Amino acid sequence: MPHDLFEIMRTTRSMRRLKPDPVPEVLLRQVLEAGTHAANGGNMQSWRFVVIRDPAIKAEAGAWYRKGWHEIVGPRYRTSQPAPGTTPERFARMLAAAEYLADHLHEAPVWIVPCAPGPRNTGSSIFPAVQNILLACRAVGLGCTLTTLHLNFEKEVEAAMGLPDDVHSYAILPIGYPMGKFGPVRRTPLESVVYQDRWGAPYSGG
Ligand SMILES: Cc1cc2nc3c(=O)[nH]c(=O)nc-3n(C[C@H](O)[C@H](O)[C@H](O)COP(=O)(O)O)c2cc1C
Repeated sequence: MPHDLFEIMRTTRSMRRLKPDPVPEVLLRQVLEAGTHAANGGNMQSWRFVVIRDPAIKAEAGAWYRKGWHEIVGPRYRTSQPAPGTTPERFARMLAAAEYLADHLHEAPVWIVPCAPGPRNTGSSIFPAVQNILLACRAVGLGCTLTTLHLNFEKEVEAAMGLPDDVHSYAILPIGYPMGKFGPVRRTPLESVVYQDRWGAPYSGG
């Protein structure tokens, strides 16, 4: 297991193909605790994390996610340009993995669903916790993907999860042991995304 934070960040890919083997409770607690260590506005910690293992809930919510992929998001991606810096082949592999997840989401042994009370907002007090959860999963050898596709059917999914009317979900994080190997994330080089002092000015680092 990697312990170097930079190595963990470099290799925290979306792991969409998961084994059905159960996730040990001790690891899940470690992951959840990492989530609650995250920065959050005023340290109010209004986040709530619903751990879902119930097959009936996963089946109902997963069916909405699958519909969202097949009817809305999948077709949109298939007619769009590949992500920057990637080849059409690699992009097609990513879409195949995303489709696999859509068809198998309910089989992931456990989901963490980060939620917050009040009107839906930018999620800026939730996503630091989500990122900690992704990194912690990687650190303990668990695969996970940040997903938000269920929000295409937000009301239906939140009803399936039994959330109160004044609480919203911000993501579904399906977690399990990965079928494939962890590997480096693929991103465009710094030069194409970092500017110096002025918008568009090349970053020279000096
Ligand atoms: C806000 C957000 C929402 C995302 N929603 C989904 C999703 O619904 N389904 C999915 O398969 N991946 C989802 N992803 C994962 C991205 O597709 C993934 O991070 C990106 O393709 C880079 O791949 P990598 O994480 O393997 O490096 C989401 C990522 C972010 C940041």
